[in-house]
Parts: sequence; C-alpha cells; structure tokens
Amino acid sequence: MPQPTKYRKRIKDLLVSEEYGVPVTIKGWIKTRRGSKKFSFLEINDGSCLENIQVVADGGLPGYGEIEKLSVGCCVRVEGKLVKSPAKGQTVEVHASEVFVYGWSDPDEYPLQKKATSMEFLRQVAHLRPRTNTFGAVFRIRNALAFAIHKFFQERGFIYVHTPIITASDCEGGAEMFQATTLDLDNPPRKDGKVDFTRDFFGKAAKLTVSGQLGAELFAAAMTDVYTFGPTFRAENSQTPRHLAEFWMIEPEMAFCDARENADLAEEFLKYIFRSVLENCRKDVAFLEKRNEVDLTARLKKLVETGFIRITYTEAMRLLKESGKSFEFPPEWGKDLQTEHERYLTEEKFHGPVVVTDFPKEIKAFYMRVNEDGKTVGAMDVLVPGIGEIIGGSQREERLDVLRGRIKELGLREEDYWWYLDIRRFGTVPHSGFGLGFERTVLFATGMHNIRDVIPFPRVPNNAEF
Ligand code: 4AD
Ligand code: MG
Repeated sequence: MPQPTKYRKRIKDLLVSEEYGVPVTIKGWIKTRRGSKKFSFLEINDGSCLENIQVVADGGLPGYGEIEKLSVGCCVRVEGKLVKSPAKGQTVEVHASEVFVYGWSDPDEYPLQKKATSMEFLRQVAHLRPRTNTFGAVFRIRNALAFAIHKFFQERGFIYVHTPIITASDCEGGAEMFQATTLDLDNPPRKDGKVDFTRDFFGKAAKLTVSGQLGAELFAAAMTDVYTFGPTFRAENSQTPRHLAEFWMIEPEMAFCDARENADLAEEFLKYIFRSVLENCRKDVAFLEKRNEVDLTARLKKLVETGFIRITYTEAMRLLKESGKSFEFPPEWGKDLQTEHERYLTEEKFHGPVVVTDFPKEIKAFYMRVNEDGKTVGAMDVLVPGIGEIIGGSQREERLDVLRGRIKELGLREEDYWWYLDIRRFGTVPHSGFGLGFERTVLFATGMHNIRDVIPFPRVPNNAEF
C-alpha cells in the first residue's frame, strides 16, 4: 500500500503490519489516555479505520509531564517503534520515543467528551462528529459505496457526465425548486407587476436542479450508456427521516434500453454496490450492526442473494387492499404509494426488495413512456426493506407526438423543452434510466435511522449550519 507521506503511517496499515522493531511515525487524535506517573497508554485514531492504535509512553520520556495532560481530542505525532502487543484484542502497539502535540483540546470544553452523546446532540456539532466511531464508520461506508458506484459503471463502459446544477427547467414537476438569483431581493426589477427575471443573471428565472436526468438523456442520445453522480436540490418541506433538501443522486441513462432491461440493471447495480460493502467494510458494518441494533450483515446478504420481486402498480394496489391492514392513507388506484405501503410490501408481504412498475400516468412525470393501455406509464420504483423507495426510474417517451401531447396535458410550455424535443426529432431512440438516492443507499448499508446522519452536513428546513 502506498503511504500518505514518507514520514507517516496510516493506522489502518500499521494494525496489520508485522514489521516489529521498525521505527514508525503516526499522526492522529487521542481517543483516550490512561496511566500513571510510570507510563501512559494512548489510544490514537486517524480515521483510516475504526480501530485505534495503542501507544505506550514511558514515564522516563522527555516532557512526560505534557503527555500526562493529554486528553480526548488532542492531536499528536508519535515517533516510536512497532511491537507485538502483549495485550488482548490487539496485535500490535507502538512504544513511543517522542510524543509531539500539534493541538491541545480542553477536556472541560470539548463537546465530544461525554460518552453517551445522542444523535440529536451530534447533529448540532456536525463539524466534530466525524471524530466519533459511529460517524467514522458511516462515512467510510459512504466512501466505499461511491467508489463501488463508479466502478460498476466504468466496468460496464458507461460514460460519466456532469450535468448542470443551475437549470432553467423542471425535471420532475411537483418537486419544489430553489431559486438561483442575483436580483436585489429588497428591490427586484418589476414588469407588469411581476418580478422581471429577464434582468436576472441568466436573462431568465433559474433554479437549482432536482435531477440530472434531462441532461443525461441528451448524452445517452449520443454516447449510448452514461451516468451522472451529483448533488440535487428539493425545497419540499418534508421533515422526515428520509428527506433532505440537498442530496446526491446517481442517474444512469441508456439508449436502446427498455423498461425491463432498466429494472435488470437496477437490480444488478444494487447487488454489486452492497456486495462491495460486505466485502470491504466488514468491521464498520459489524460495529454499526451493534450500534444501531439492525441485523445489517443479514440485510445486505439477503439483498445480494435474492431476486427482486417485480409487480405492477395495479397488482401492488390489489395486494395492499387485500392485506386487511388499516393504513393511514387507504390504498386506491390512481393515488401514489405512501411510505407505509412501501414498507408493507417489502417488510411484511415479500420480505425483500420489490420493483413496482407501470404507474398511472397522472402521478408520474411528463417524460415517462405511455403504455399501450394509455392509462399507465413505464415507470419503476425500487423499494427496499427499512427504507421504502430507493430508486425511481422509467422508460422515456421517445415518440415526439406523444411527448408533445403529454407536455400539453400537464400544462408545461413546449418552448421550455425545445432541446429535449429535438432529441425526439433527430434520430430518436428508445431509452431508459433511473435515479438512485445516494443517502437512502447509505441509510440501507449503515442501518442508521435518520438520513441527516449519513450526509456530512445535512440541509433540511431551518438548518444550513456549517
Ligand atoms: O424518484 P425521483 O424523484 O426520480 C427522479 O428524480 C428521476 N429524474 C430519476 C431518473 O429517472 N433519472 O428521485 C430518485 C431517488 C428516489 O428514489 C430517492 O431515493 C431519492 O432520489 N430522493 C431523495 N433522497 C433524499 N431526499 C429527498 N428529498 C429525495 N427525493 C428523492
Ligand atoms: Mg420517486
């Protein structure tokens, strides 16, 4: 393994090293210190893995008086040598020849001092929470998932495209968008009683994107298999454990691909990325499994090993009605699936992931391909236990006349989508794609209970701190 610098070893690498007696330099933050006048044990962590490395500092070291004052949160450099540890539960430790303090941390003021710190409290100190075992594990798993996602698509020849964050078009309809403007909000230019956006930065009203899909479609119509992986923004005021105002989405888009192949890819994709968590994040998963009281390994294994159930929306509605359960929102054909419905299907009925297809066109976006029946569209939602909807996707409407009809039907303005329609005018192609919510994916893989705890700095109504 390449080392970060000539002068520093990662704790992750040291813990599996057998180079006993070799001089080493480690740098990190103190987790605990215990000891006496004779010697101190320092537990040091650098975020490379869950475990700390134990440093033994002898009372005879120069400046031992300072070492005795070290407490949780202090940042140090330790010079020493690696030795086989006599203690239980660890194979190596470092015998220090020098401890240098980069930064002190007043134990009376350090917020992560107290042992039992609630998730709510840790959200208020999100700038420090990556130093906790829990958040270290979560963000290493998040990293492993991001890497696996790119790997999956790159291995299959997909081209990674970067679609814009600022946009003038609404992809999803319904989803509330944030305005991006440089107008003086105290005194905006007006015309006919309305704000005059022709005098705004872009010469028209601009928003933050809710999805990179429309841009991805344009690229799929040239490069066949593409994907995006970027931030998206929704100003919906949902205070739920599954919604963020800023979240990341992965959106593959494939030319020459129908709804069925789209669902096949979604299933293969989810299995691939969760398998990589099982293979590469064993210790973090085991830690979170206990911490969150969720049988994570079993949850991930089950998803990787069992075929996803596929049912149509119409069948799903029938099953929900026949369930005999009293839902807060009674299931009814034409109404959208609620979280409680999604959870019934995945957790009680099928005990695993479910792909629901062919939704009524009234509750889905304008771009979805209209089915033969004229009532439903080639949509798919992938639902997983514990989360509900994790993926939303569809086959896209590639027929120019049908698409124009849908745009009109939904009261959208054709001139706003002229470039989107051009793709259907010039060499139109059957194509499909989907969007995977990245934070919901991290939720599933970590067993965390709130989406605010799987993104570094959550943006939700009334909170954009840090
Ligand atoms: O189902 P959605 O709205 O689909 C789209 O945006 C399509 N344009 C995707 C495509 O076909 N290319 O969103 C996709 C996924 C959802 O299934 C969910 O996992 C996640 O994005 N998501 C959210 N995650 C966190 N907070 C929110 N407010 C979310 N809204 C959607
Ligand atoms: Mg959706």
